[in-house]
Amino acid sequence: MNSHLNWRYATKKFDPSRRIPKQDLDQLLEVLRISPSSFGLQPWKFVVVQDRGLREKLRSHAWNQSQITDADTLIVFCALKTMDEGHIRNYVDVISKVRGVPKESLLNYEQVMIGALAGKSPEAAAHWMGNQVYLALGVFLAECARRKIDACPMEGFDVQQFDEILELPQQGLQSVVLCAVGYRAMDDHHAVLKKVRFERNQVFIDKL
Ligand SMILES: Cc1cc2nc3c(=O)[nH]c(=O)nc-3n(C[C@H](O)[C@H](O)[C@H](O)COP(=O)(O)O)c2cc1C
Repeated sequence: MNSHLNWRYATKKFDPSRRIPKQDLDQLLEVLRISPSSFGLQPWKFVVVQDRGLREKLRSHAWNQSQITDADTLIVFCALKTMDEGHIRNYVDVISKVRGVPKESLLNYEQVMIGALAGKSPEAAAHWMGNQVYLALGVFLAECARRKIDACPMEGFDVQQFDEILELPQQGLQSVVLCAVGYRAMDDHHAVLKKVRFERNQVFIDKL
């Protein structure tokens, strides 16, 4: 199938000399901002790292993977450490402003969200927020491919070290997953490897 998702692959070797034009990167990041999330609560922040020294430091806590330093940009996908009522109320304020509707008309929705969150243990809430962040990662990877910008999603890093270096807990955040973006090196042999995926009948259960 001729899909941009067949063009993409988890890039192992980036060309460190190639920069993503600022306008393209801005548009790519905008995709993260408008990613969907449960209730629309957006329980995330994205740390955009280009600083060389900082990336050298992070690389030593990410299996020394070269993508960390050689890609144009490293994005650290973070989830909120806790989802409190303040975040929900703030979100409701934003809906009211953006859509020009009175806050009172949103009180029901606010209560539904508060109730849904109250029913979750701290662990379940953290898990739920992580899920939302992964959804943003999926949307982001698809958009990178559509724009022919290479990317490597990465879980191979030390969460605690990253959190400490990026001072995330102080900002009420924790790192979840990374994505390096840029352009593949011409000699990245992974670029020509065949995609390995299970056959259709192994991944679908048809009840047609
Ligand atoms: C959530 C996630 C985490 C990953 N972590 C790493 C990583 O730390 N380092 C790496 O080189 N590749 C990483 N990968 C890439 C996968 O190995 C790769 O996506 C998979 O083998 C399928 O190959 P393809 O993406 O090239 O089609 C990760 C992929 C995902 C989706």
